Amino acid sequence: MANPWFESVAVARARAKKRLPRSVYSAIVAGAEAGVSASENISAFDQLGLRPITAGQTTGAPLDTTIMGQASSMPVMISPTGVQAVHPDGEVAVARATAARGVPMGLSSFGSKPIEDVVAANPQTFFQIYWADDRDSMSARMERAKAAGAVGLIVTLDWSFSHGRDWGSPSIPEKIDFKVALEHAPDVLTRPRWLLSWAKQRRLPDLGVPNFPTGGAPVPGFFEAYGAWMGTPPPTWDDIAGLASEWNGPFMVKGIGRGDEAKRAVDAGATAISVSNHGGNNIDSSPAPIRVLPEVVAAVGDQCQVMMDGGIRRGSDVVKALALGAEAVMLGRAYLWGLAVNGQGGVENVLDVIRGGIDATMRGLGKSSLDELSPDDVVIPHDFFPPAT
Ligand SMILES: Cc1cc2nc3c(=O)[nH]c(=O)nc-3n(C[C@H](O)[C@H](O)[C@H](O)COP(=O)(O)O)c2cc1C
Repeated sequence: MANPWFESVAVARARAKKRLPRSVYSAIVAGAEAGVSASENISAFDQLGLRPITAGQTTGAPLDTTIMGQASSMPVMISPTGVQAVHPDGEVAVARATAARGVPMGLSSFGSKPIEDVVAANPQTFFQIYWADDRDSMSARMERAKAAGAVGLIVTLDWSFSHGRDWGSPSIPEKIDFKVALEHAPDVLTRPRWLLSWAKQRRLPDLGVPNFPTGGAPVPGFFEAYGAWMGTPPPTWDDIAGLASEWNGPFMVKGIGRGDEAKRAVDAGATAISVSNHGGNNIDSSPAPIRVLPEVVAAVGDQCQVMMDGGIRRGSDVVKALALGAEAVMLGRAYLWGLAVNGQGGVENVLDVIRGGIDATMRGLGKSSLDELSPDDVVIPHDFFPPAT
């Protein structure tokens, strides 16, 4: 096999595009509707400049920090994603990679591997749930996560109900049996290396979500679980407070994009927030998280740990987010590209790329500690931030 190492997330993405069936690739790359937010998440970072120094650069800064009570080798963690047949080892490969690199991970309740297997590979796992199904089954999911050893809960509130995508959603089967495999043959057969990775494990990809069922029910397919989420009335802040007190441990509300909501999340018991628009999968045109990050930080101060996710593709993006007030960031698509290209090794590669980029940027800015970063290190266009709520 050619050298699987890649030097940037962009290279990993290009290779993933070649390797994955078109339907799988486009399900990952996609954002809601016109994809305005999905691309804005990235272009907003491009609009921010950095102010390097020349003589007097440092030899780097220690990058280790604490994320939701967990020691982390850098201010980066893995954001939960419902992995869509990217690699047969799925979240277990991600867990091994993050454990090897000393960073925590979030596991989606729509992920493809049981939480017990993921925690066994990385004990620094946070479990992510949606407000889906009846309240008893949410409790059962939390109990199972606790029993498995999850060290925190992430509740994601920003998935949107908008379906139509201008580029046309791929057709994704619920399960791949022989008949479906034949139907999808034109898409899949052009991707022999991807097919081979599944064939080696003597199985076909399926979209089962093993962390969703409760009470001994069979593992539902992704769309069945999605339907359960769609059919559940959205929670109130009192509901979220109930969830936080029931969990009674590190508790992140993911998806906040406004200062007033950040305060409510803290009042409800959040110990962490991720400023996020679900990677451009909330209602389209919701602002890039980096644009609303300072508003959220100003609203909650140090009452909870403020993180952000959306559009992080390089270490300098992480430094920009930290300079604007985030304590850490979460990676989404970036690690999925690495996973697609080279399984565990690909995720490690992505984490190394990000780490290398943070280190280079810290040196260039002349910093010897993450605490030294401030908005003064960033060149910010005058109309970059929207008016605060
Ligand atoms: C394919 C895909 C699946 C996702 N599934 C989930 C999920 O199950 N739970 C969740 O909280 N967020 C999910 N997200 C959102 C990510 O956790 C994260 O917020 C987003 O990907 C960050 O943006 P980025 O991809 O630009 O880094 C998903 C994102 C993608 C691209």
